Amino acid sequence: MAPTVPSVNDLCVKDLAQSPDLKSIPSQFTFINDSKGSNSDSLPVVDFSMLVSDNADQRSIALLDIRKACEDWGFFVLINHGIPESLMKAIIDASLEFFDLPEEEKRRYEAKSASDPIKAGSGTANTANNKILLWRDFMKSYVHPNFYCPEKPQHLRYVVSEYSEKSRWVLRKLLQGICENLELEAGSMDEAMNLDSCFQLYAANFYPPCPQPDLAIGIPPHTDHGLLTFLIHNGVAGLQIEHNGEWFHTNSPKNSILVNTADHLEIFSNGRYKSVKHRAVVNTEATRISVVLANGPAPDVVVSPSEELVKRDGRALYGPMKYIEYVETMLSNQYGGKGNLECLKIQADYHE
Ligand code: OGA
Ligand code: NI
Repeated sequence: MAPTVPSVNDLCVKDLAQSPDLKSIPSQFTFINDSKGSNSDSLPVVDFSMLVSDNADQRSIALLDIRKACEDWGFFVLINHGIPESLMKAIIDASLEFFDLPEEEKRRYEAKSASDPIKAGSGTANTANNKILLWRDFMKSYVHPNFYCPEKPQHLRYVVSEYSEKSRWVLRKLLQGICENLELEAGSMDEAMNLDSCFQLYAANFYPPCPQPDLAIGIPPHTDHGLLTFLIHNGVAGLQIEHNGEWFHTNSPKNSILVNTADHLEIFSNGRYKSVKHRAVVNTEATRISVVLANGPAPDVVVSPSEELVKRDGRALYGPMKYIEYVETMLSNQYGGKGNLECLKIQADYHE
């Protein structure tokens, strides 16, 4: 009798990947990547301890590194950020345990609407002519200003809340540095975006080994909502960043945080710092897990470009939109490049 692979609709990708006879991916997962990705030996690195140092020279070096990273790549590797290695390991381990829970437990969080504060599933993406399934399982929850977290595993809520609190401090320092680089008052973003109530979305992505990684995708090319996204992982690489029209692997030193610029930093900076396109690729060998913290303005803030920058530029390049509406439109549209941000772009008036 021919071996049977269970129907993909009944399975999370984790279980599908464990089917003993799986030699090729079911056709619904087929996604042809446009290129494989190259290594770069010049990925920007920012030393956080220099940014918060009392030594003015050290601080200016860090500010310059942040400025170049935001202008050139929209991405940097953050080192010496002060978040304990034990906490980073604990959040990866606790997130892994979530994916090991019985199916019924995970299904409790199957999304019914875009505004559910906790969502779990596998996800789809729209390609030019059809909908495809993604080679990953995920769990997402809103963790600030209101904190939501699955009940199990029990210690998940403790580590996620610790990690989110410590990350907020790092975030605020980075954003103050970015304001200085934009020649704005250091606290101007704190005020305009009401960062005391900044929105944080925690997402754990689980990418099991894939028999045909070149024919599948973990997450297709997209940009993130928010200001800066923080990503850590279990040591298995998979995040790629687009730079000058080419894809690059992001290999990172242990205990570092991968930071990328997101849509609302592009909006706030009136287009100076572009939100970077990125994707997650999969491999045949090892399970990869990433823990992502999307950091944005407060949910109710209607985000527009900085007034001061609009004054300097003579016009706003993006229209206003309430942040949480943007997030929830994006979560319900699935992945589609830079779609949402495109809708907010204001065309220049045509003058003879
Ligand atoms: C995301 C994302 C990439 C990764 O969750 O938005 O881009 O490497 N993840 O998991
Ligand atoms: Ni992303």
